[in-house]
Amino acid sequence: MNERVLYLMVCGAGPADHVDVAIGLAQDRGWSVHCVATPAAVEHFLEPAAVEQLTGHAVRTGYQRQGQPPLPKADAVVVAPATYNTINKWAAGIADTYVLTQLAELTGLGVPIAVLPFVNTALAANPVLHRSIDVLRSSGVQVLFGKGGFQPHPPRTGSRAMATYPWSAALDAVE
Ligand SMILES: Cc1cc2nc3c(=O)[nH]c(=O)nc-3n(C[C@H](O)[C@H](O)[C@H](O)COP(=O)(O)O)c2cc1C
Repeated sequence: MNERVLYLMVCGAGPADHVDVAIGLAQDRGWSVHCVATPAAVEHFLEPAAVEQLTGHAVRTGYQRQGQPPLPKADAVVVAPATYNTINKWAAGIADTYVLTQLAELTGLGVPIAVLPFVNTALAANPVLHRSIDVLRSSGVQVLFGKGGFQPHPPRTGSRAMATYPWSAALDAVE
């Protein structure tokens, strides 16, 4: 039987340092994980070689290059950590990273997508974030924000918040 394919879309926020946790949880559930990351995630947090070792697949940050295997079709997508930047740009129809281009297409295709933001209370106080979440939800995307999902933390407490980052909730949402 073929394994189910999960795209783990990783943006530039602290939990991107800990995607090994998400990869392990997803693999335990029978997903073949393909990690797609923003340039900010790779620049500041994620170690592509370590992720490739865990998933068996190269981390994608751009379009397929000659000699690179194509991404298999996704059965589901988890966007975690999802930044303020990517959530707002996605909802506004901007597609200037490979992650955003893929998300625009996958939203249009109706592939199950769960989004787990990682924002502090200062970012979360901006009404634009809530408008963007509403737009994404109305497109069928599951944004796990607020009760039962991600709860924003006070500024400068992100490293503590990472310990309870609810990766499993995102995986539950795409089952
Ligand atoms: C150390 C560090 C921590 C950051 N933490 C967050 C965060 O928790 N949430 C967030 O939305 N952005 C955070 N940012 C800012 C994003 O990385 C920045 O907005 C970037 O443009 C996001 O790009 P992306 O959405 O394409 O990944 C952080 C940046 C750095 C360098």
